[in-house]
Amino acid sequence: MSNESISEEIARLDGAPVSLAPDDIHCWLFSLESDADHEHLDDAERDRARRFHFDRDRRRFIAGHDSIRRILSRYLDVAPGDFEFDVEAQGRPTLKGGGVNFNYSRSEEWGLLAVSDAAILGADIETVRMSDDLIDVARRQFSPAEQAALNPLSGDAWTAGFYNCWTRKEAVVKAMGVGLLAPLDCFDVTLTPGDRPEILRAEGDGAVARDWALRAFSPLDGYCAAIATDLAAPNLHVLRVKPQTGSRY
Ligand SMILES: CC(C)(COP(=O)(O)OP(=O)(O)OC[C@H]1O[C@@H](n2cnc3c(N)ncnc32)[C@H](O)[C@@H]1OP(=O)(O)O)[C@@H](O)C(=O)NCCC(=O)NCCS
Repeated sequence: MSNESISEEIARLDGAPVSLAPDDIHCWLFSLESDADHEHLDDAERDRARRFHFDRDRRRFIAGHDSIRRILSRYLDVAPGDFEFDVEAQGRPTLKGGGVNFNYSRSEEWGLLAVSDAAILGADIETVRMSDDLIDVARRQFSPAEQAALNPLSGDAWTAGFYNCWTRKEAVVKAMGVGLLAPLDCFDVTLTPGDRPEILRAEGDGAVARDWALRAFSPLDGYCAAIATDLAAPNLHVLRVKPQTGSRY
């Protein structure tokens, strides 16, 4: 059930304006191993790029932000370098003056940009890789109900359950706009492989709503992704960006 109402197509970063239906969430998936340059980035983005210690991280940051700008420009019908971002108190970027909602996530050489008219939108992509540290992360970060669902699993099912939980929780806290500063045990998500992605419990001051929808998908072999939104019945459409000339693939 985890891939209900998810369609996909091959896409390009540049092209004609793109429109969104009210229930649409477009999930753009692109490689960060391109030779993009910083021509479209603003001063703040260039400054961040300069501060990376490793060239590979700088290159991926620039490729990610170049892709974000080129994709958003297709919704706004404004050139990639001609719009500005605001940054909320806890770090969430938004479009100055509005337009569309978006949320970006990256893991190793892949970036995921969710774009929608939904008021609430969070995205997360992770590389699925087992390591002993994950057991400790689950113990510290997952709620008692999530730990009870994870503990009976073993082997690959445990690893899949861990990443299901992690990506769903991170998508939720990114949708809230607070990121990992949020108390992660104030809500429960499903995690058992094959179970429908869902928020099972949400308590506290209402920052997470029980009726937000979760969607999960495996965008590539070895990667796991999740989207959280306040849309009741989101239509997820995955747009896989075709590698372009200059790509390292
Ligand atoms: C937000 C957070 C979960 C991102 O973690 P991450 O492992 O880098 O996750 P992702 O790759 O999924 O997301 C990165 C993107 O999320 C977006 N983002 C940043 N802060 C965000 C927030 N509070 N809410 C939603 N999205 C956010 C940005 O687009 C960022 O991309 P960029 O670093 O290239 O600008 C993590 O940084 C966090 O919890 N931070 C806590 C808030 C914080 O410390 N803020 C400090 C700045 S005031």
